[in-house]
Amino acid sequence: MYKARIAILISGSGTNMAALLYASKHGDCPYEVALVASNNPDAGGLKIAQAEGIATFAHSHKGMERADHDAVMDTAIRDAGADYIVLAGYMRILSDGFVHGWEGRMLNIHPSLLPKYKGLDTHKRALEAGDIHGGASVHLVTPELDDGPVLGQVEVTIVDGDTPETLAERVKYAEHQLYPRVVSEYVGREFDADWLETKVSELALALPQTHARPSHGSPGWRVGTEKTGKYFAHFSTQHHGSDAIGVLVKTGGMDELETLCEEQPEIYWKPAFYGASGWIGLRLNRSGVDWEHVTEWLERSWRGVAPKKLTKLMDVAEGF
Ligand code: GAR
Repeated sequence: MYKARIAILISGSGTNMAALLYASKHGDCPYEVALVASNNPDAGGLKIAQAEGIATFAHSHKGMERADHDAVMDTAIRDAGADYIVLAGYMRILSDGFVHGWEGRMLNIHPSLLPKYKGLDTHKRALEAGDIHGGASVHLVTPELDDGPVLGQVEVTIVDGDTPETLAERVKYAEHQLYPRVVSEYVGREFDADWLETKVSELALALPQTHARPSHGSPGWRVGTEKTGKYFAHFSTQHHGSDAIGVLVKTGGMDELETLCEEQPEIYWKPAFYGASGWIGLRLNRSGVDWEHVTEWLERSWRGVAPKKLTKLMDVAEGF
């Protein structure tokens, strides 16, 4: 099973990091922890990670410009081969450049029911407002603080006599359940056939004069009219004993197909029952899929069968 690699960033005790780490020990967890990194060399969580044989990295932010410190962390995270960053009590405001570099690939947990109480002192503010629930939210990180799309939330009932400390303690129990589940769902979607099919379909239908048409029960995409259109892509889900989920596109011929399959077997496969037709499988249920590359293949395959007047139009459009 392919696992997404996550880097967890902490500043303190790291109990959420520990929850994520121990959840990853289950065989069916779709992620593994590639690195635990901190801006605080004394963060308690680093020891927990080390005890479990996880790579750690610490670099104090003291005396550094924000962007420079972010760059040091970024290098360590990329060197560890991480696909995602998971912030778990990482008490740093991040520079826009760092956030943009991980767009859609950085998650955070925040101890409130967002959009309520962004920033600090969330439990105190919930109590002062007379709320009946506190809670926690997991969201995607965008440049605006605690503002990205919410991926999951859990409510925690406020009881008489609660203080910010007692509420914080119960919210943490809730966080420890919520975070591994939401991270799993989010990173796991990239291995999910429905999610992959939707993504391929969006890219295929973005090409001129295309339409979807199933073929032998599998999704497919054609160029041209409904009547005379030709297939330029098929979607393939774990067919004939293969564990690959991916898109079939047309190569220039069997020589190219054989070479690609031999040189990059992690990406390409030769689909069964397509004979010497030149259709090649592009595996998508793996981490780090380069969607630009998939787009280029779809376009090339489209060009191979599209009517000449359409490809000419495309050439003119690309000339601008
Ligand atoms: C967690 O409650 C988390 O929601 C919060 O810090 C705590 C870290 O605890 N994060 C924020 O306040 C971010 N703005 P932990 O180190 O024990 O996981």
